[in-house]
Amino acid sequence: MKKNQRVLTGITTSGTPHLGNLLGAILPAIQASKQDNTSSFLFLADYHSLIKNTDSNLTHSSSFEIAACWLACGLNPKKVIFYRQSDIPHIFELAWILGCLTSKGLLNRAHAYKAAMTVNEENGAQDLDKGITMGLFNYPILMAADILMFSADFVPVGNDQKQHIEMTRDIALKFNHYYGELLTTPVAQISEDTGILPGIDGKKMSKSYKNTIPIFSDDDVLKKIIMKIKTNSQEPGEPKDVNDCNIFKIFKSISSENDIEELQKKYEEGIGWGEAKGILFENLRDFLFPFKTEYQKIVKDRGYIESVLKQGKEKALEVSTPLIEDIRKAIGIKGF
Ligand code: TRP
Repeated sequence: MKKNQRVLTGITTSGTPHLGNLLGAILPAIQASKQDNTSSFLFLADYHSLIKNTDSNLTHSSSFEIAACWLACGLNPKKVIFYRQSDIPHIFELAWILGCLTSKGLLNRAHAYKAAMTVNEENGAQDLDKGITMGLFNYPILMAADILMFSADFVPVGNDQKQHIEMTRDIALKFNHYYGELLTTPVAQISEDTGILPGIDGKKMSKSYKNTIPIFSDDDVLKKIIMKIKTNSQEPGEPKDVNDCNIFKIFKSISSENDIEELQKKYEEGIGWGEAKGILFENLRDFLFPFKTEYQKIVKDRGYIESVLKQGKEKALEVSTPLIEDIRKAIGIKGF
């Protein structure tokens, strides 16, 4: 029996780390890793990034930036198993095995795949699968393998990933039904406050919508992005509703109770959007400052980041190797 509860999460290494990643995955995962009786597995989902781009420089630089980001945000590599997905071949072996058990219909219902088909439909494409790769289609299987290879109990993710965890559970149960109880069914941990952090256009903050707030940009860049946040057309002086405001939602996710109350009062008094954005900018800048300072230090030491990931790889392999050996035996892939 495992003693510790295992918490596992990963970030697809495409694009620059943004506020949604920070609040939705990185900080909650680091927080959870500090608890006693918890083993944390945090990894760079670098093979997932191939689904989104074919730019090898981007894949590489983004992987580096995101590794530095986790470390800058307080990940303690002595306490956490921190590794690159690509360093653990067992994940990909398990992905194949799980793929052989997963019904195609389950993947047909995946949100990401359905969204890609909807785009084709809206563009009047004859083939709804136009431009959709098997990588995108199989994405939930690779994600299930990431999770199941390490017998994770809890997976902290953004709300949009909930379906993937449910699929992972289905797939694990199917495996266990055929081959015996080797896989642990994980539970999604959705952070209530930040579950639906809006991007600057009001849609969920996501790299794919290009509406993100980067966390390590210069202050003037940050300010420009904040100024672009979409609002309604109410004039200064009109009382405003905090519940229906992207500025306020973002503000709330990074501010103290006091600051939140104060801004809420200003909304009632009819604060102008420009001023509200200014207040958000200042709070966000201060909130991000310690992470940014640490990040700027860490990116200068590539050797340190590499050595941390090498150690993480060794620790991760110690966990995945015995399980994949049991899995191979259980499915009948073994010596004569
Ligand atoms: N799909 C996740 C995202 O885009 C990243 C990810 C890949 C992940 N594998 C995972 C998250 C396993 C949690 C567990 O945000």
